[in-house]
Amino acid sequence: MLEQRNLARVDSYLRTGRTLFRTMHKAELYSSSHGLQKRDAAHALTEYLDHMTWRPGDRVLDVGCGPGFVTAQELMPRLPQDFAILVGTDVSHAMVQHATSTYVQPKLKFAHLDISSTHIDKELWEPGFDKIFSFYCLHWIPDQRTAVNNIYHLLRPAGEALVLLMAKCPVFNVYTAQSNKPKWQQYMKDASRYISPYHQLKDPKSEFINIVEDVGFHVVDCDCRQNKFNYGTLERLKDAIKAVNPFMDRIPEELQEEYLNDCLSEARRIKCTESNNNVEEVTTVSYDIIVAHIKKP
Ligand SMILES: C[S@@+](CC[C@H](N)C(=O)[O-])C[C@H]1O[C@@H](n2cnc3c(N)ncnc32)[C@H](O)[C@@H]1O
Repeated sequence: MLEQRNLARVDSYLRTGRTLFRTMHKAELYSSSHGLQKRDAAHALTEYLDHMTWRPGDRVLDVGCGPGFVTAQELMPRLPQDFAILVGTDVSHAMVQHATSTYVQPKLKFAHLDISSTHIDKELWEPGFDKIFSFYCLHWIPDQRTAVNNIYHLLRPAGEALVLLMAKCPVFNVYTAQSNKPKWQQYMKDASRYISPYHQLKDPKSEFINIVEDVGFHVVDCDCRQNKFNYGTLERLKDAIKAVNPFMDRIPEELQEEYLNDCLSEARRIKCTESNNNVEEVTTVSYDIIVAHIKKP
């Protein structure tokens, strides 16, 4: 029933040309399978935080905070003690709810914010923020300019942002392949909307720099780097796919295991994982991320 309702919504959104805003919402599942995201956010923070200019009373925003772990356990402990407030935000109400009830600290708040929106109520966010962080969120948004522009306007003058997003990932090739199969086609009509806007580009870094500079940012540093992550077991890899796969809710429950197994076979087929019948290689994923430290004049 639920899947049917979800499918009907996809059709209606596709017909009207609007985007069905279905992101991740499985807070518990994501929390137990976010090793890759957690590791990369921690690395970026260690690398860039000391290069930012910190002042007493800085207001800090985390865009796309998911279940709040990275905000509360990776970002907050690294902030200078005299920061004023840290606000974790997400478009998913389920994620915001989970974060709010899990991480309770005096200077930490969680709130709903769709960073892709063309009409963010700026008054709601007054007096703006001095630092904005965003880990593994921006590649969910097809209209990068709008998202970057929103970050720009949420920052106060001389504010800085550190963003990390997925540029290229074999999982996106799996989405395309699955969406072309008769069995899964009906559940994945809008698959292209969930592929990183940088995935097909030769030079994701230049494209990202063009966008942020057009919006008005000064680029302090921007890197597009290849990373690898080993999930250890096929079960953990499957859980990670399940946690971020936006199509699962549309697939009838009795077909979900088959769909996931088919995703894994497809991944092997297109050599997305480095399979040599060696479990460690099968569970290792290579992907490219953009990490950028940008500043508002
Ligand atoms: C992979 S999770 C990353 C969560 C967290 N930052 C971390 O590193 O663990 C991506 C999050 O971005 C959120 N997201 C996607 N599109 C968004 C948007 N337009 N505005 C705000 N959050 C968004 C999703 O709901 C999801 O919780």
